Amino acid sequence: MYHFYDQYCVEQAAKSRLRVLPPADLPAALDFSSNDYLGLAAHPDVVNAAIDAARQYGAGSTGSRLLSGNYSLIESLERQIAIGKQTEAALIFSSGYQANMTVLASLLSKRVLPAPPIVFFDRLNHSSLYNAMFLSGVEYVLFDRNDMIDLRRQLQQHCVASRPAFIVTETVHGMEADRLPLAEVVDIAASYNCFLYLDEAHATGLYGPQGYGLSTTVDLSPVPHMVMGTFSKAIGGAGAYIACNAVMQQFMLNRTAGFIYSTAPSPMSVAAAAQAWRMIPALAAQREQVFAMADLLRQLLRARGITVMGDGTNIVPVCLGDEAGTLALKKALLDEGMMVSAIRPPTVPTGTSRLRVALNAGHDSDSVSRLAQAIARHVSGPAARG
Ligand SMILES: Cc1ncc(COP(=O)(O)O)c(C=O)c1O
Repeated sequence: MYHFYDQYCVEQAAKSRLRVLPPADLPAALDFSSNDYLGLAAHPDVVNAAIDAARQYGAGSTGSRLLSGNYSLIESLERQIAIGKQTEAALIFSSGYQANMTVLASLLSKRVLPAPPIVFFDRLNHSSLYNAMFLSGVEYVLFDRNDMIDLRRQLQQHCVASRPAFIVTETVHGMEADRLPLAEVVDIAASYNCFLYLDEAHATGLYGPQGYGLSTTVDLSPVPHMVMGTFSKAIGGAGAYIACNAVMQQFMLNRTAGFIYSTAPSPMSVAAAAQAWRMIPALAAQREQVFAMADLLRQLLRARGITVMGDGTNIVPVCLGDEAGTLALKKALLDEGMMVSAIRPPTVPTGTSRLRVALNAGHDSDSVSRLAQAIARHVSGPAARG
């Protein structure tokens, strides 16, 4: 049977979509591919917190939270998160992928709701959110990313009072590099009586007065809601949180399979996330630097006639369209010591393959200018037509 799986990879390669692991520990002089936006992954205080936790609690949590795996460090991180996100409660998961899939699937469970739910689902949502739709088998209606007219249109057409309705979207999009008009989404959700599920994977650490995400900038109380975020990007670690009220926390303890039947995250990753979370409000200068560098790169590329996507985010996507051209540009930049991610379908829609430049607090104007010059030298075609 191996040949079926081999054939799949052969077909992917023919479309320039085959994924291969990059060489381990690639010593690129300049890394524009990392999600460690604030440089916390290797920060000594974060690393030491992980080491101390391993000494005190051990390397693993020894069981699921409901059995042997509950410990004070994890409960204290949940309290810190609830305070930062201004919610009653929070619950921690081992990864953002796991949290999205399993939490959403449990929310949408036909055993829990009085009628089959309907989900209004951002077309460009992350794979983990899509997989929650597949897992729960619910009906979902796509709306165009950040298109509030389309969202209203779909709600008008498909929302019926007898069916519980949900809106699922990301506050900051990691591939489109745009921000959700959150206040408007809350208004819309309120007028159609929808439950709002927000993914703040790319917002956590970078937005809001204290850096705790876009959800802290808007009053979400008019609608039932849950906010998910990861520790794997600006927090520099691993794991995820759901910020919610006490009812929803209790519900997850009782129904969310990926929480109930999964070993609790390791004390090392929880301690690292807790230390990073404490540091986030004081990192305003790093946030300014990240956004200033992203603005500079956008300016430099646009000045050279290169189209870049998004605005007001630290991600700068350069859309080339085709897979082969995007891979070739990634390779050319790597040959010059610059690591940038090539993003291809199915991660993004066909015809929108792109270079995804992720700026972080360690970048300066020299490194950004070097990258802009290199991209401009290699790019021709749609992205260069301005
Ligand atoms: C929008 C979004 N949600 C969820 C995830 C998954 O998070 P994690 O890496 O913690 O599993 C990611 C990570 O790529 C993401 O970009």
